[in-house]
Order: sequence, then structure tokens, then C-alpha cells
Amino acid sequence: MQKLTIGLFGFGVVGEGIFEVLNNTPSLCATIKKICILHPDKKRKAPGELFTSDREEILCDPEINVIVELIDDAEAALDITRAALSKGKAVVSANKKMIAEHLEELLVLQKKYGVPFLYEAAVCGSVPVIRNLEEYYDNDMLKGIRGIVNGSTNFMLSRMNAGGVSYADALCEAQQAGFAESDPTLDVSGRDALNKLVILLLHAYGTRTEPHKLLCRGISLLHPSDSVVAGERGWRIKLVATALKLKCGKVAAFVLPEFVRNPDPLFQVQNEFNGVLIESQLADQQFLFGKGAGRYPTSSAVLSDIAALRYDYRYEYRKLSSGLTPSLTQDLYLKIYVGFNSWNEVNKWDFETISEFHSTADRQYLVGTIHLEKLRNAEWFHDGSAPVILMPEGIIEKRAVLEHSLKKISLQLAGV
Ligand code: HSE
Repeated sequence: MQKLTIGLFGFGVVGEGIFEVLNNTPSLCATIKKICILHPDKKRKAPGELFTSDREEILCDPEINVIVELIDDAEAALDITRAALSKGKAVVSANKKMIAEHLEELLVLQKKYGVPFLYEAAVCGSVPVIRNLEEYYDNDMLKGIRGIVNGSTNFMLSRMNAGGVSYADALCEAQQAGFAESDPTLDVSGRDALNKLVILLLHAYGTRTEPHKLLCRGISLLHPSDSVVAGERGWRIKLVATALKLKCGKVAAFVLPEFVRNPDPLFQVQNEFNGVLIESQLADQQFLFGKGAGRYPTSSAVLSDIAALRYDYRYEYRKLSSGLTPSLTQDLYLKIYVGFNSWNEVNKWDFETISEFHSTADRQYLVGTIHLEKLRNAEWFHDGSAPVILMPEGIIEKRAVLEHSLKKISLQLAGV
């Protein structure tokens, strides 16, 4: 068994957690030798001699063979990871932004230096979804993944719906509980979930992409009346990351708020919990559920990666090199709900069909079918403020034959 001597970068919510947990897990044979921090004057819950603000003290220490990187600056984290891998030090990271945005380079570095780079904590906190996808599911058997992968927004939606808490207060609570990113716009804009989806795509299908190439919407534009609509129908609004293998063999992937109804397993995922529904051809549905954010759940995943280093575990990225890697497609239709105050907030002609239109004194909404690519490129979608929510079973692979002719009739029936 390898003795692990750790250099820790960052002593925030998770860094402090991992320090505490490692001290209480002597069986792991892993010790933290030095901790690199940005602000040396801040009071810390660890002996002062452990701290340094000079990263080279860790990176150039030959005794340190593992770098645990838990800082929130993705560019600085990349620099540390580059330096560590090039010096033959294994790296454990929770930085999904760094990984998703620099996937190609990180894959090259791992190959070049042949050292493990593990990041289970980057996706779904304590839920072991990466290793599961990496090890268990064969490429052509995996039909799709739908997941609540951001704990903060799920916590906020739960608080807003059940507790009648305002958006601002719910966000404040998520920050105080240590669930949110230090820049919480990453959570509420859906970009944190998107970064995680990029990582999931790699391990589920071997498909490499960049976050900006995928359709993404978070929860920041949701309006209280959207929750009323959900409540009336017995649904819940969830922020869901989806990757779906289509009949054409390609994969569609996006992050959108979604109306989820019972008995969809995602319906019961509340607060900071995450849930990933994996659908495969033989096993049918499997559901992974657990805490996705917070000090100890995230520490548990970091700890598990550290433990895996003792037997030199590394991701093999078998699906990436299998030659069967599916490419991404935007060629599918989505049935979506759009809320608005006046028609100039949305272009109804972008829709193939509009099946519902509701209007009250102060709010309107439609339910319609739209091509994913058209939605992604629509000015009203990317620059506007109209909430967009995927309907239950709202993914439509093939255009229905009658859709075109129905479009006009639907609009007439809707009286628009
Ligand atoms: N801000 C992230 C979340 C932390 O809320 O899910 C865990 O990745």
C-alpha cells in the first residue's frame, strides 16, 4: 500500500472538511503535510505551521506525492494541476469548472505524465456517479442520464416551493449552508450543472465537448407564477441535466429547468440532495441518490479518491478510445413551457406547434414544441427573460408528421 503525503490547496468549506476527516481516518495512511492558502492572516482551525501561501513549497516538495486541489479559481487550479502532473504527483480535484473547460488539455496531460487525476467530488458531491459510469456501464448499453446535479439550486427550489421563501432568501440560505459556489451565478445560471454534464458525457459515452456548445438555462429567470402552474398540476420544478442517446446513435445534451411529476425518481429529490437516473438497455432504470453539496458529502468523495490512489486507481477513459464514441446532436424537438408578460418577449413563429396558451390579468404562458437548435439560437431565449421549462416527457426525437399542418390550427385555437 502506498503511503500518501498530501499537499492541500484551499482551506474553505471542503478543504477544512477533508483536513478534519483525514485526521479522523488514520487507517487511510494519508497525511496532510502542507496547506496552501491565499490569505495567511485569516484564522484557521488547524496548526499554523501547516500553512503556506507559497505554492512552490508544496509543488517542489519531493515527499508530497498527492495534490488535493480544492480552490474555486479555475485558472489557478489548472496551473496547479499542470505543475503537479508534470512533476509526477497525483491530483485529486473537485473543480468541475476547470475540468469541463479544459478537458482536452487535462486528458493530454494525464496521458503524457501517466499519473492519476481523480475528480469524483466534482460531480454530485457524495454520489459516486463518475466511477460508476466509468467502470460499470458499457458504451452502447447506456440510453440516457437525467440528473439533478446542482445541490444549491435544488435546495433553493425546495425552499421556495415548500417554505414560501423568496429567491433572494433561498440563495442566501444556500450560501450560508456552504452549498453555493463562491460566485453563485454559476449555480443559478445552470453553468455549474452544465460543467458537470460535460464531465458526465465523457464518462458515460466518451463524448468530449465544451460547456458553451450545449443548451443551458438555470433557475434565475423563473417567476413565482411558474411554481403556481407546477403546483396546480401536482408537479415540481427541478433543474435537470440531460444526456440522451437518440435512435440515430448520436447524443443530445442540455441543462434546463424541467417540470417533474411523480413517480419520476427526480420528483422526490429535495434540498441539497442530488439524484441521477441512469437508463440502460438491459438494466432499465437505476437511480443514484445522495447529498450533492456541503462540507462532509463533498469531503467523502475527495476521501474516496484519496483512498483509491493507494491502489493506483486511475480513470481509463475506455469509452473515449473505444472507437464507438457517439457525437453530439442538436437535432431534436423539445416541448417547453414559456412564461411571459407580453407577446413581444417570445417569437411564437419559432415553434412547430403551440398546444396550450393561458392568459391571466398579469401573466401568460404557452406550451409549445420547438427545435432545440432554434431555441438555442433564438434571441428571445438567450438575451430575454422569459422562463423556459421543459415539459414532462418533453423530448421529441422525430418530428410528428402532422406538426406542420397543426401549427396554424393550434395558433388559431389559442387565439393568437
Ligand atoms: N455549488 C455546487 C452545488 C457545489 O450546489 O451543487 C457542489 O458541486
